[in-house]
Amino acid sequence: MSRMVDIPTARIFEPLLRKARYKGAYGGRCSGKSHFFAQLLIEECLRRPPLRAVCIREVQKSMRFSVKQLISDYIIRYDLSALFDVQRELIQTPDGGVIIFQGMQDHTAESIKSLEGFDIAWVEEAQTLSDHSLKLLCPTIRKKDSELWFSWNPNRETDPVDRFFRHNRMEHDSDVICVKANYSDNPWFDETMERARLRDRKGNLAEYEWIWEGGYRTSIGAYFKPESFLENGEAVRFPAPVDYVFATLDTSLKGGYGNDGTAICYFAVNKHASSLPGRYPLTVLDWDIVEMEAASLPQWLPTIYEKLQELSFLTKSRELSRPLYIEDKAAGCALLQACRTKGWPSLAIDSKLTSLGKDVRAFNLARYVNKDMIRISDHAWEKTASFCGETTNHLRKQLFDFVMGDTHSHNRHDDLLDCLCYGAALSLGNRQGF
Ligand SMILES: Nc1ncnc2c1ncn2[C@@H]1O[C@H](COP(=O)(O)OP(=O)(O)OP(=O)(O)O)[C@@H](O)[C@H]1O
Ligand SMILES: [Mg+2]
Repeated sequence: MSRMVDIPTARIFEPLLRKARYKGAYGGRCSGKSHFFAQLLIEECLRRPPLRAVCIREVQKSMRFSVKQLISDYIIRYDLSALFDVQRELIQTPDGGVIIFQGMQDHTAESIKSLEGFDIAWVEEAQTLSDHSLKLLCPTIRKKDSELWFSWNPNRETDPVDRFFRHNRMEHDSDVICVKANYSDNPWFDETMERARLRDRKGNLAEYEWIWEGGYRTSIGAYFKPESFLENGEAVRFPAPVDYVFATLDTSLKGGYGNDGTAICYFAVNKHASSLPGRYPLTVLDWDIVEMEAASLPQWLPTIYEKLQELSFLTKSRELSRPLYIEDKAAGCALLQACRTKGWPSLAIDSKLTSLGKDVRAFNLARYVNKDMIRISDHAWEKTASFCGETTNHLRKQLFDFVMGDTHSHNRHDDLLDCLCYGAALSLGNRQGF
């Protein structure tokens, strides 16, 4: 059975009513993106039953954070309850179709195959979608005439969804329709939302541009730019061969705090690479950040040495890997001791380096960055890890959120940034970090 309802569409979204493999809607808050796709999905369920659709987020902790409520509200508003059955975990749609709600991070390469028979995948908050998830999802939605929809508030230019729709796209690609929508394009934008907008406009302008106008997030005074660590806007592949591989480890265990962290960065060094096109003196290969009690840290060491060996192999390192450099403060002293006992090569990071203030360290790092000496590998660029309840790329977060002279710096985690500063100073400068 097929039934049509007359759902009004904001003019800005009209191009998305056409058929296309990839549909994107991005822009600032309250532009109507979520409501548009929710309604379009209901229309599609009526137009081509039995439709199977999946609503996706990168992370979906519970149904409460899905678009299920929004879709259910429209089912009621359009008096379609006789055709749709809203259940706890899913919505049954006409003629045996279904809408389900899932988080990409709950999927593996195996489990994602359960979505192969789906007609539509709608990714909400797609700015948080990892490259891995995007690459996993696109070929999975493979049914004839299937579509992938993405709605998002842009965050960084380098986010996978932005690269896919806005930067890597071939001109006039008929498979792709993408529109930018802002509050001013939303005919249902009301007084309450307008008051919220005007209040934000009086505050931080860069933040306003990001939140309301759909601009990229540029923290005011952000010191490091993503492009400086990329080659033509892309993270680099692992270099090979390289001179050597090494790692720096920074533990900031204060004891007793829930948010104590220990960070590590792995690097590859090519001393004379500057003269070779596409080769760089220092490449960040990998990183990690863990919440661990001081007493458990030594158990982590074997994994670190295994990883150093693996990276030496992958990068065809000419020398054996260098010692693990550890900041000999806090729990670092115990780690150095543990390495010595086991006979694993380790060195304390020179206190001349560790005692420098954060701003001076960042300033020193910037000198190498400005000379175009440092790159981040695609692996390190895409990786995400859970730390302090946040699953994200903590290396990029720490690096690109860093601001000089930040009076709140004690509230921020910058252990990975510290590891990067130490790594650059130890391999590209002298030990004093110059
Ligand atoms: N088609 C519509 N019919 C009725 N109201 C709408 C419609 N589209 C948008 N609105 C109104 O505009 C508001 C903002 O829309 P919506 O939540 O879809 O915006 P958004 O772009 O997804 O915002 P955010 O970026 O904050 O997620 C909604 O709360 C709703 O009140
Ligand atoms: Mg929304």
